[in-house]
Amino acid sequence: MSLLTGANRKNEATCPNVVKCPTVISMVGLPARGKTYMSKKLTRYLNWIGIKTKAFNVGEYRRAATEAYRTHDFFRADNKEAQEVRQKCAIMAVEDACKFLDSGGEVAVLDATNTTRARRRLLVDLIKEKHKFKIFFVESICNDPTIIEANIVEVKVCSPDYEGMDKTSAVQDFIQRIEHYREHYEELEHEKDNDLSYIQIFNQGERFMVHKLAGHLQSRVVYYLMNIHVLPRAIYLTRHGESEMNLLGRIGGDSGLSERGHEYAQKLGKYVQDENIPNLRVWTSELVRTKQTAEFIDAPKENWKALNEIDAGICEKMTYEEIQEKYPHEFASRDQDKFHYRYPSGESYQDLVARLEPVIMELERQENVMVVCHQAVMRCLLAYFQDKSADEIPHVKVPFHTVVKLKLTGHGCECLHIPLLTRRSSLLKSSSTHSDQTDASSLWL
Ligand code: F6P
Repeated sequence: MSLLTGANRKNEATCPNVVKCPTVISMVGLPARGKTYMSKKLTRYLNWIGIKTKAFNVGEYRRAATEAYRTHDFFRADNKEAQEVRQKCAIMAVEDACKFLDSGGEVAVLDATNTTRARRRLLVDLIKEKHKFKIFFVESICNDPTIIEANIVEVKVCSPDYEGMDKTSAVQDFIQRIEHYREHYEELEHEKDNDLSYIQIFNQGERFMVHKLAGHLQSRVVYYLMNIHVLPRAIYLTRHGESEMNLLGRIGGDSGLSERGHEYAQKLGKYVQDENIPNLRVWTSELVRTKQTAEFIDAPKENWKALNEIDAGICEKMTYEEIQEKYPHEFASRDQDKFHYRYPSGESYQDLVARLEPVIMELERQENVMVVCHQAVMRCLLAYFQDKSADEIPHVKVPFHTVVKLKLTGHGCECLHIPLLTRRSSLLKSSSTHSDQTDASSLWL
């Protein structure tokens, strides 16, 4: 006879092992400590590695539940009416997060201040005790006034709360709002919160404190949070120049560049020289065509096997027409679900994402980097920075002979396309699927 309660049974059903146990990641910290930035970035990363994740921002619930924001008075601890609204909104967000986890979601990120111990206990009661999900706290503690000021000026004054208000008044109001929170702020503490799993991040990654990690997911989250930084920098992505195999319309292989490809290599070298990028590092795959494309770049270079093009297995070196003729079933299956389709004896886009995870982690750690890679690889990397879903990844447009510059700051990512060769080629063979083939010309310049 089972002694399990209903809730426990549910837990057993949804948490067959620690790896898959649905988890709420709850942010903690005063306003303007980068919680939303971290929530969004973490959500994007977890989705990219295939963990179904959604962020729930309590500020948005508050805005939906109240009339237009007037002043910081709303956040005073003695404003009983507002306190009630805030509590209700927090609970609504938690309930929605739990609904998401109940319906197949794996991680819900609760983006809110959660600055009091009482509020955090309420979360534990609802999430852990009632719904039987795991809860992991991520606290951002920042006492560096320049970081806080930059966050207020660059992000907070643009919030819908301050629409129509002049910048100086918005900054003043926000500073007061922080003060209301500070009066009752209780940081996570080893003695008082000994039963909780959490990470504390001090001054945007200067120092970390990790407590009672519970399981694989939490370790991955911690590893990721410990690798990211907010220094402004740029990541440059490019496919290799046109190769001999491209000219023949054949996929894969390890050929050298065509004449035009060599021309692109020269242009790329010149572009990098003109950009004058401090401490640039260049990463290529281990294949000849990317090494040749990087030939004229004057910067330290590293070759990564992880950056090699998708392995097309038994279809390597074939044209798409030959694949369709020889393996019609394979060709059709790939067209049906290009992300999950795995070439026999080769790889799928899903495999590629797993192979590229260390590359992303290292890109997060670095400053300015140029990655010279391949079509499928570049799609996966771009998808990470541009928050594309698994279904979208295999169809991301990556034109030839174009540098994609990603300007990253502590607040977001701006994407610029810089075509370096503009003459259009007449040989247009680039994509494998019926749907892609119709607009293959857009991939070639
Ligand atoms: O055609 C060039 C290429 O890099 C091939 O080597 C690779 O198999 C292909 O692109 C990936 O694109 P798709 O997934 O659209 O076939």
